[in-house]
Amino acid sequence: MSETVITYGTFDMFHIGHLNLLRRLEALGDRLIVAVSTDEFNAAKGKRTMIPFEQRAEIVRSIRFVDEVIPEASWDQKLDDVKRHSVNTFAIGDDWKGRFDFLAPHCKVVYLPRTDGVSTTELKRSLNRFCSVSREDVLRAFDVLEQLRRDFA
Ligand code: CTP
Repeated sequence: MSETVITYGTFDMFHIGHLNLLRRLEALGDRLIVAVSTDEFNAAKGKRTMIPFEQRAEIVRSIRFVDEVIPEASWDQKLDDVKRHSVNTFAIGDDWKGRFDFLAPHCKVVYLPRTDGVSTTELKRSLNRFCSVSREDVLRAFDVLEQLRRDFA
C-alpha cells in the first residue's frame, strides 16, 4: 500500500537545508505532500517573507521529491489534512520536536535533524549585513558632497 508523508513550512529563500529535508522526507514514503504557509498565515505569526506564497509554492512544487503542494493557512488544519490525504507519516525538522505529538494517534510523527549552519533567518541577516552601508562610507559620502558643493559654489 502506498505511504503518504506530509510536512509543513514556510520555505522562504529556498536553501540547502530545505532541499536536504525534502530529500529525506521523500525517502520516508511513496508520496510527499508539502504544506507551504501562506503570506496571511505568516503575517498572523508576525513573520514576513522575502518571497511571496505563490512563488514559494511553485519552487517547492518543482522539486522532484515533492508530489503535491497545499497551502498552510492555520495552525489547526493538520489533523484535517492528515485525515483528508490519508497521511501515514507527519514529518518535520527537529526544531519542532514534540510540538506535533498530538497527531500520533492518527499517523507516525517524525522529527528529522536540521541541516547545520543554514536557515532563512541567517540568510536574511547576511543580506542585511551585505546591504547595510557602513558609517564610514556615509561620512565619506558627506565629505564628497561637501567638496562638490564648494567646487560648484
Ligand atoms: N529545515 C532544516 N534544516 C535547516 C533549515 C530548515 O531541516 N537548516 C527544515 C525545518 O526544520 C522545517 C523546514 O525545513 O521542517 C522548513 O523550515 P523553514 O522554517 O521554512 O526554514 P528555516 O530556514 O528554519 O526558516 P527560519 O529561519 O525563518 O525559521
